[in-house]
Amino acid sequence: MVAAPNPTPAAPNPQIPSPPEGSDAALVSPDVKRENLPSPPSGQPLPRLGILASGSGSNFEAIAQSIALGHLQAEIPLVIYNNPGATVVARADRWGVPTVLLNHRDFAQREDLDRAIAHTLQQYQVQWVIMAGWMRIVTPILIEAFPQRLINIHPSLLPSFKGTKAVEQALAAGVKITGCTVHLVVPEVDSGPILMQAAVPIFPHDTPATLHQRIQVQEHRIFPAAIAAAISATA
Ligand code: GRF
Repeated sequence: MVAAPNPTPAAPNPQIPSPPEGSDAALVSPDVKRENLPSPPSGQPLPRLGILASGSGSNFEAIAQSIALGHLQAEIPLVIYNNPGATVVARADRWGVPTVLLNHRDFAQREDLDRAIAHTLQQYQVQWVIMAGWMRIVTPILIEAFPQRLINIHPSLLPSFKGTKAVEQALAAGVKITGCTVHLVVPEVDSGPILMQAAVPIFPHDTPATLHQRIQVQEHRIFPAAIAAAISATA
């Protein structure tokens, strides 16, 4: 699914909530607690999402907001982060979500880190793993622990501009449209089946910062929607 770029917005899709004003604006406050919202219609236990984040955590917060608004029927039992001091910790604290630090610098091999991540996620009975700005390459150890249930977001229209600095790559290439992609994770980086995309125009005076900010508005819109769609497709 591709949303039309600004300034020609697509007709609203009722399945995808409108973006907040600005990439980081709160849709709802953390005070809106899950228990104040109606129970899921099925009465089934909520799918448990484990979040992996390395930095700011604005995508984590968009997902938490979507849950609080009742758009995404799920719960977040923990956030795993790898960089001490990552801002995602303060965001998680505000939402009352436990955080666990697994610093990749403490592990000799990528596989050792992924084994620790998988073990921790399993301890928290996580069913879906959401890479919300997780800046580490994951190995088959983690992928095979959560088959078809490991989801990533990437700031380009894949398959264009894989890997690091995707926003800078798009600017350097001179393309007029870029965007973001939510996809399932496979061993090859940024290459798994695409779940949802949104397009973002590139303007003549864009810098990496201005373009990334507009991409993030779309990320916050499609990431929760793509997770909801993936969950319902396997229900
Ligand atoms: C996002 O732009 C995402 O596409 C990329 O890392 C960024 C994370 O942002 N993988 P945040 O930490 O969620 O604010």
